[in-house]
Amino acid sequence: MTARPDAPSSGLIIAVDGPAASGKGTIASGLARAFRLPYLDTGALYRAVGLGVLGVGGDPADAALATQVAQGLRPGEADEAAIRAHGVGEAASLVAAHTGVRAALKTLQQNFARQPGGAVLDGRDIGTVIAPFATAKLFVTASPEVRADRRWKQHLGLGHVVSFEEVLADIGQRDARDRGRDAAPLRPAQDAVLLDTTHLTIEAAADAARRIVEKARDASGSSR
Ligand code: C5P
Repeated sequence: MTARPDAPSSGLIIAVDGPAASGKGTIASGLARAFRLPYLDTGALYRAVGLGVLGVGGDPADAALATQVAQGLRPGEADEAAIRAHGVGEAASLVAAHTGVRAALKTLQQNFARQPGGAVLDGRDIGTVIAPFATAKLFVTASPEVRADRRWKQHLGLGHVVSFEEVLADIGQRDARDRGRDAAPLRPAQDAVLLDTTHLTIEAAADAARRIVEKARDASGSSR
């Protein structure tokens, strides 16, 4: 019998949500290594849809087209460097506001979360919509300036030509859109633990995240 996608799972499911460049990707992949769990960066799915729409010369605001692209998405096939380009984050946040796009990607994410043993997923609505049944929920934040600085350095490292001011403006715009949309807005789940990484090194943030998960795991009685 196939389990219902919204049913609880016996594995260790870790939901990591937060705004752009908050450090959630680094934290989530570190947790996946620490707890030996598979990891899904759900932002990459929305980025792949945004890139797919741009690739056919479409407008990411076009809900019907974006939904069609999302329904045909084959995860893992998108070019990693291309989905990280500056304009693709913006396109991702536009396509992510369409309910059809979110519906098309939901089952895939829930199946990933529910695999035997558990999983780590990061995004905007993992703790609230995709895996409300997660064992541990983290909401990772940092000041807009610190987030913009981190994202700008990532762009420089990838050879993208973009100014700090452009990145800061982009982050502000994406935050506002992700928080203000009707479909699965960015917000902490009621039972999420807030982790502010503004003044934390990567190591300190990773340690804090691990402790949060260990505490939630022990409280839930999960065996992992
Ligand atoms: O996490 P990342 O910045 O790569 O995500 C790109 C965009 O995809 C976000 O700005 C957000 O609009 C959207 N997204 C989402 N829900 C998720 C993950 C990403 O709406 N679970």
